[in-house]
Amino acid sequence: MREAAPGNSQVPTADDDRDPSYGDPGRVARPSVLALGGSTRAQSTSEAALRIAAEGATQAGADVQVLAGRDLMLPIYDPDATDRSPEALRLLALVRDADGLIVVSPGYHGGLSGLLKNALDYLEDLRGATSPDRGSYLDGRAVGCIAVAHGWQAAVGTLHQLRQVVHALRGWPTPFGAVVNSSEVRLDEPAAVPASVEQLHLVGRQVVEFAHMRMSYAASQATGGSS
Ligand SMILES: Cc1cc2nc3c(=O)[nH]c(=O)nc-3n(C[C@H](O)[C@H](O)[C@H](O)COP(=O)(O)O)c2cc1C
Repeated sequence: MREAAPGNSQVPTADDDRDPSYGDPGRVARPSVLALGGSTRAQSTSEAALRIAAEGATQAGADVQVLAGRDLMLPIYDPDATDRSPEALRLLALVRDADGLIVVSPGYHGGLSGLLKNALDYLEDLRGATSPDRGSYLDGRAVGCIAVAHGWQAAVGTLHQLRQVVHALRGWPTPFGAVVNSSEVRLDEPAAVPASVEQLHLVGRQVVEFAHMRMSYAASQATGGSS
């Protein structure tokens, strides 16, 4: 049993419930990907983008779990709090166990939405190693970064912010980051916007590719670097 993350004794830190074959060279590699984001708006375009990127990860062979919109409505992150809501604990457990993530934010006033940033602030509770194969925060995980706004300027600016936040959380932003201009692209009719769908799928695929690379690395370490 490892020590609890600082500031919150409730945060899941044990690795008891992790796949015991992690790092085993014989493991059948099927990475788990957590897809986070969207807005609370009905017909949210950023949630649609999230689900399309998640589809790309699924097609690439991942098991994907989606936490979207209202799933992320958590109390404002309080570093001094000693207990967390069940929803926050669920988020933390899913992040801890994910082999990769996809994160989508709408552009609000030129930047990340408060909903998403607050959810990411909770990852402070994952500071320090939370299991033998997990370092601080998003260490060792690729994070597919996607931004959706009513114009290109806010979409691109929000993507930059999201990448910065992922870097601060020790994650690996995917090389390709997607932006969607919701004033031009209707994601509720994916067949009409194949280029956007392909870009969002690519982000999901890159997360899975990186997870496979990390799994191979973990397996090679488990065999003393011989594979
Ligand atoms: C509070 C708020 C602020 C916004 N600020 C901007 C902005 O600065 N620039 C922009 O292009 N769009 C802005 N938008 C529009 C959203 O980015 C756009 O509608 C996006 O598709 C929202 O995502 P959603 O459909 O998932 O809710 C704003 C929307 C809201 C609700």
